[in-house]
Amino acid sequence: MRNFTKVQDIGDLHEALAKAKFVKENLYADQHLGKNKTLLMIFFNSSLRTRLSTQKAALNLGMNVIVLDINSGAWKLEIERGVVMDGDKPEHILEAIPVIGSYCDVIGVRSFARFESKEDDYTEKILNQFIQYSGKPVFSMEAATRHPLQSFADLITIEEYKKTERPKVVLTWAPHPKALPQAVPNSFAEWMNATDYEFVITHPKGYELADEFVGRAKVEYDQKKAFEGADFIYAKNWSAYQDPNYGQVLCKDMDWMVDEAKMALTNNAYFMHCLPVRRNMIVSDAVIESPNSIVIPEAANRVVSAQTVLKEILSSL
Ligand code: CP
Repeated sequence: MRNFTKVQDIGDLHEALAKAKFVKENLYADQHLGKNKTLLMIFFNSSLRTRLSTQKAALNLGMNVIVLDINSGAWKLEIERGVVMDGDKPEHILEAIPVIGSYCDVIGVRSFARFESKEDDYTEKILNQFIQYSGKPVFSMEAATRHPLQSFADLITIEEYKKTERPKVVLTWAPHPKALPQAVPNSFAEWMNATDYEFVITHPKGYELADEFVGRAKVEYDQKKAFEGADFIYAKNWSAYQDPNYGQVLCKDMDWMVDEAKMALTNNAYFMHCLPVRRNMIVSDAVIESPNSIVIPEAANRVVSAQTVLKEILSSL
């Protein structure tokens, strides 16, 4: 595997899960792979889990790690070609990317949807320029449309906790004060659709995701009905995808918060969220603190997903 930006890049899911299991049980078995290899992680947006888990994964593999925060100490980057650069951005991404590539062996990029242009976001304008111009393997640390390291960790976690072969997994929209990208729900849906789980998406009308991500999922607008018999509840907010409301917050209906009453409708479901989560907006204190909340082991599995992906990339160098 050279680049990792979506579920197809990981290959067969059963094999990927077996590789992840090996990594989790043998964290330091592959240190030779990263010797004298450098990972450069570039962040256009903030992070806690992705930054720490990916760095830990790289260190477990014996790599050196460089972290660059574009908004903290780096030159602001112009990303449009043909612009007269007389503003506040002194460097163009077309020089910055190959320079970055010359300092490392593998590049991780975090670059969220900017909501300035749906086309730019959904063609992954920034991530794809790294793939095109860096000359190095590139993996997504959450891009405009997907967050595959998160989704891989989510899948690993579901496999660890599931009590039936084909659990019912429900992705539910929940309220949030700000407009958030669709990357996490898109990506979660993409990975769930690659399994044989029963998969349901529930959200208020107007929050329909792109067809390519909804795939075979059942869309249920009645959240309580969706929760019935669920084995896993995966909560996330996202902004509208459909035109003309792309990137907008259409409602903040607190009735969509995940609380104990709704969890009581499920099959004693586990509660999941990628974090960070806004308590008592997305989920009540009682649910996230309950024994059925697996958000911490889910986050811990971010090291496993990152290490499995980095190992595959290093093995291909
Ligand atoms: N879930 C996740 O990607 O967390 P961070 O934004 O803190 O990296």
